[in-house]
Order: sequence, then C-alpha cells, then structure tokens
Amino acid sequence: MGELNTILTYVKNLFVINLILCVAFTSTAQGINTIENIIETLSIEEKIAMCHAQSKFSSTGVPRLGIPELWMSDGPHGIRAEMNWDDWNYANWTNDYVTAFPALTCLAATFNPDLSLEYGISLGEEARYRNKDVLLGPGVNIYRTPLNGRNFEYMGEDPYLAAKMVVPYIKGIQQNGVAACVKHFALNNQEKWRGHINVEVSYRALHEIYLPAFKAAVIEGKAWAIMGAYNKFRGQHCCHNKILLKNILKDLWRFDGVVLSDWAGTHSTNEAIFNGLDIEMGTPSDKNISIRYPHQNNFLGKPFLEKIISGEVDERILNDKVRRILRLMFRTSLNKTRTFGKINNSEHYKTAYNIASEGIVLLKNSESLLPLDKNKKIKIAVIGENAKKTMSVGGGSSELKTDKEISPLFGIKKEFNNAIIEYARGYSSNTDNYLELRNEAISVARDADVVLFIGGLNKNTFQDSEAEDRKQYELPYGQPQLLKEISKYNKNIVVILISGNAVKTDWKSDVKSILQTWYLGSEAGNALASVLSGKVNPSGKLPFSFPKLLKDNGAHHFGEKSYPGKDGSQFYSEDILVGYRWHDTKKIKPSFGFGHGLSYTTFELWDINSDKKKYASNDTIKVKCKVKNTGVIEGKEVVQVYVGKKKSKVKRAKKELKGFKKVAVSSNQSIEVNINIDIKELAYYNEKSASWEIEKGNYIIYIGNGSRNISKEIEITII
Ligand code: BGC
Repeated sequence: MGELNTILTYVKNLFVINLILCVAFTSTAQGINTIENIIETLSIEEKIAMCHAQSKFSSTGVPRLGIPELWMSDGPHGIRAEMNWDDWNYANWTNDYVTAFPALTCLAATFNPDLSLEYGISLGEEARYRNKDVLLGPGVNIYRTPLNGRNFEYMGEDPYLAAKMVVPYIKGIQQNGVAACVKHFALNNQEKWRGHINVEVSYRALHEIYLPAFKAAVIEGKAWAIMGAYNKFRGQHCCHNKILLKNILKDLWRFDGVVLSDWAGTHSTNEAIFNGLDIEMGTPSDKNISIRYPHQNNFLGKPFLEKIISGEVDERILNDKVRRILRLMFRTSLNKTRTFGKINNSEHYKTAYNIASEGIVLLKNSESLLPLDKNKKIKIAVIGENAKKTMSVGGGSSELKTDKEISPLFGIKKEFNNAIIEYARGYSSNTDNYLELRNEAISVARDADVVLFIGGLNKNTFQDSEAEDRKQYELPYGQPQLLKEISKYNKNIVVILISGNAVKTDWKSDVKSILQTWYLGSEAGNALASVLSGKVNPSGKLPFSFPKLLKDNGAHHFGEKSYPGKDGSQFYSEDILVGYRWHDTKKIKPSFGFGHGLSYTTFELWDINSDKKKYASNDTIKVKCKVKNTGVIEGKEVVQVYVGKKKSKVKRAKKELKGFKKVAVSSNQSIEVNINIDIKELAYYNEKSASWEIEKGNYIIYIGNGSRNISKEIEITII
C-alpha cells in the first residue's frame, strides 16, 4: 500500500511538472488551473517555506517539482552587487559590475515618460542578465521634507508626476520577465526612526497625495510585487497593515501580485498572516536550526505552520499567499520565453546618458554665462569635492558596483580639451583643514575665466542616504561660506549641485548660474559636460520645490509633532498641502518652484485655449497651446497644466498638476501641444463617503512652463 502511494504521488508529481513546463507557453486560464493543481500537490511545510526568506535575497521554490527559487535584488538605479547567502557582506564576485542609471529624482526631472520606459527596459535587461526575478524598485514615496535621506530614490513631491513616470518604468522592467517591486508602501517619508515612527495622516491626504503613484503602479503599471514600509500607519506596521494591504491594495485595487516585507520589517505573525503580507524578507535568521535554511523560525515560518496545523488559521489563507507567489513565478522564474538579458552594453550607457543629460535642471543663468564655448582657450577653475567623488557607492541599499562612473572633472576635461583646467577640492567631507582648502580654491578661482563649483550633498550617512535623515537644510562642509569667499574674487561662478534633495540657496545672488544635477550614475561627467558646453540644451524641470527656509516647507511649518514626530508618532498637519501646494496656497515664495527649469533658448506659450467653457462630469478638457522657440537654438520645453477650484466647499490647493507634455522645438518654430484632462481627475477624496467626488462649479486652468511661471489662466465650469 505504502509503495502504491509512493508510485501514485510520483505520477501525480510528474503530471504537475509537465503542467508547469507547459503553462509557461500557454494561456492564463490554464495557468490558473495549473496553479491550483500545484497548490493541491504541495505539503503545508512546502507552502509555508515559500512565505519567508531562505537567504538574504531569495525565497524558496519547490525543488521536488522543479519550481525554482525567487531571486531578488535592489534597485532602483541598477542591479546591486551579489551579497553573501545570509549576511549583509558583499560576496566579492568579479562578474557583477553593472550600469549605474541616474537616480529616480533625475528620471522624474526629465518629465519624459518615454525615457522612463527606456530606463525600465534597460534595467530589466540587466536584471535578467544577473538572473534576478524581482527588482526591488521603483520607489515612489512622496517628497514631504527636504531632510528625508532617501528622497533621491523617489520621484518627487507631486503624485501626478510620480504616477505618470512610474508606469512606463514598471512596464519596461516587466517586459523582460522581471517583476518590479514598488516600494515602500506607504508613508515612508522620512528615514529618521523609520522602524517605529507612527504616521497619522488624514484619509484624504493618504488617497490624494501619498497613494496615487502606488495606485497607478498597480492598476496601470500592473506591478507584480510591492514592498511594505518600515514605519507604522495608524498604530500598525505597514508591512502588515490591514488598512493599506488588505483593504486598499488587495480589496480595493484588486492587486493580484505579491506583498514583500521590507527587510526585517515584519513584527507579528498574526498580523502578517491576516493582513496581507505574502513573503517575509530580511527577518534575522537562526543558524542553530539550519545553516542553509536558517529562516524557518521567522514570523511566517514555524509559528505560521503551527497555527495551520492546529487549525487556528484556515489553510485557505496560506493558499492565497502561495497562489500569489506561484503567479509571480509563472510571470518571472517560470516564464520560459523571457530574454537572457544584457549588461553594460553601449545601449544601456546611452540610455543612462540620455536620462542624465535630460534630467539636469538649469535653475539660474544670469547674463547667459552658460553654455561655455568649448572651442575657446578659456581658464576653468573646477572647485569642490563632488567633482571627483564616486556617487554610485554609498547611500544604502541602492548603492552599485559599476566599473564605469565618469566623474564630473573627467567629463569636463574631455569635453573642454582646449581649455586650461585647474582643480581644487575647496571643501571636504572628512577633514577639516578648512583654511588650506579655502586658500587653494581662491588661488585657482581668482584668475579663472569661470568657476565651476561642484558641490551639494553626497551619499554619506546624514546626507542623501538610507536609515538617517539630513541634519541640516544648508549645504554641508562649509560650502556656503566658501562660495561667499570665492565670489569676492570671481563673479563668473556656476554652482553645480549634486544631490537628491533641495538645499538652502541663500548664496544664489552671489553666483551667476546654478545647475541641479542629481546622482547621474555611470555617465554623470559626460552628461554634465554636455550641458555645460551646450551639446545638450538643458530641459529638466524640478520635481520638488526648493524652499528658501526649512520652515517654509509644509511639513516643517508645524514643528516637531509633524517632523520628525514626538512620543513615537507624527501628524502630517499640512495634510494635502505638500510641496508646491503648500507654497502656492499659503503664498510662501520658494527659492525655486516645482516644475521650474530654464533652457539656453527661450520659449513662448501662445494661442492657449480649452475646447469648451462648460463640462459635464464625464467630459474631458482638451487644452491646446502653441510653443514657440524664440531663441536661436533647438530646445525642449515642458508644457504644464495645473487646475485649481475656485471657492471650494473643501480645503483645496491653489493648483495641482493635472497634465504635462515635453516637446522638442527648433529655433523659430512653433509646435502645437494638446493635453487632455478627464474631469474625473479633478475629483477630491471625500472622507465621509470614502469615495472620489467631483465638485461642480468654477475651476481655473493654469497653463505654463513651471508652477510659478503661468502663461495663461482659463476659467471653466463643471455643470
Ligand atoms: C530597504 C529596501 C531594500 C531592502 C533590501 C531595506 O533596508 O529599505 O528598500 O530593498 O533593504 O536591501
């Protein structure tokens, strides 16, 4: 009898293996059937094993059925170097060098969704080459405070922009058979105390500001995985938060993918079981149980197993998690048609270069100091530690091992090969021989034709880096004082800010030009040099505001209770008025506003109209405008459409971004731009009815090329 059972099990398993192999090529309906067949075949132990990590970056499959493991990697700017099986040390492989793509803030600053698709495709190819199934990115937490150490990994302060940019990125990754894992869901808007801070925010701000990019990622981008956040929301950790994961993500948005915990973000077996966590990652292991599989005691390991065996938890809950995991496997590791991928090829570097150069933002350019003529034998003083600093290393989990990162200084020397270039470090992040560095900088600057001051932040702890926030809004390491001093000797200063965050720019009147240049990845120096020489005409726009003072930012206006929190909790008292919504509504002028970005040419927006004056709630507003390039060189401009409600019955931001389009226009040419806005996009979230409501009445449409540079206002009515 025993033998017969073994034979029967063997035959059944063969049947399932066959199905697994077949389904990789066949339809969804059969896929579902197969998943159900597999679930029936699995033992409880096998199913439990799939719900938690087996190593630092993998979870197990079912070896006896040939169901492979799932391999994951950070994200979001390239594929992270290999780590040891069960610790945070790098494995020191020699074949895991990758392309470093620009940080997501830079991608957002391009305002160009086509580049986002290119980014996703290239990154997905690198993930495939490295045999990864799940890419731990993109990050779409909203930029709430300029102190957040991880803003550089996200897409800025506006939910509409982030939503539009994240969808193509996901599609690009996933068309390679690699899952995008959107993170960190949700409200992980600061690093300080990230493991325990409890966020209290209104449902309205949650739905209008903090969730739209995640919602677009799930519903339009069809992301296959999502990662919970470390912090708490309304008293419960986000990795097993009932409101976020069960009610919103799975029930409301019908997410059919897998919820992963952030690494060591799981704290409760029961909450993890019932509130929607599918795979627990990063919880410390216990090598006493098994050297190779040391995670069996994790929250979703043995404690979960015991609850199923005792009948305390219905096996159907486990099956739902396994069904999702198998679905993810059929989309990735069991997808036999996916490509093999590519790495470090010229196309990927080209993509990195295109995004880097298109994301650079020209904040200021008095007397048209830029571009610099590369044919002239000018003397250029390059000053600043960031001119030489490697930026793909550091910053936490997004750091990369790349054998190509062109430094700004290298890129500038290559591009300006007729110039005399002298370098001085000027300031230092790790020594304080201030006077010596300052004197050297002044001597280089005083007789130069132009000073390129390359500073900003870096990827050190307390700068743009994980686990801690910045401690100050000002530029660090004495840069503001140094700039003041240099400006006494040379008036032709270009400040090149390398950062993923806004900084205080009270020195801006002392310098002629400012470029915001992000962490640009492998092609950093080439992209920067192209913009400096005019080979690329800058067209990036700020994805977040630069407040003059920290207290001008909405989150900081309300003090400690709002940021960083008090007694374990924080209240998002600025509510829906995040970023430029705060500045505009409260009439607080920023140093540079959201959407701002200059060009070496000039544009005029004219002939601006909407198709009608009155709209029904199921209509679409069709905005039409012409963009004329009134300068002498070709350039790209971003038409931005904002909408605000006049006399609303609820609190409203003065205006909110509802559409944008980037166009290339030759000198003296005009191009027509059409932007459509569905009236339903103007709805606000009504907390009482827990639904989106379109308020009738008068609205203003603002059309311009920056949130504070509006060319025309048009009044319309929703009837
Ligand atoms: C980060 C995640 C990352 C994970 C794995 C965590 O500390 O918050 O973004 O994906 O580590 O490295």
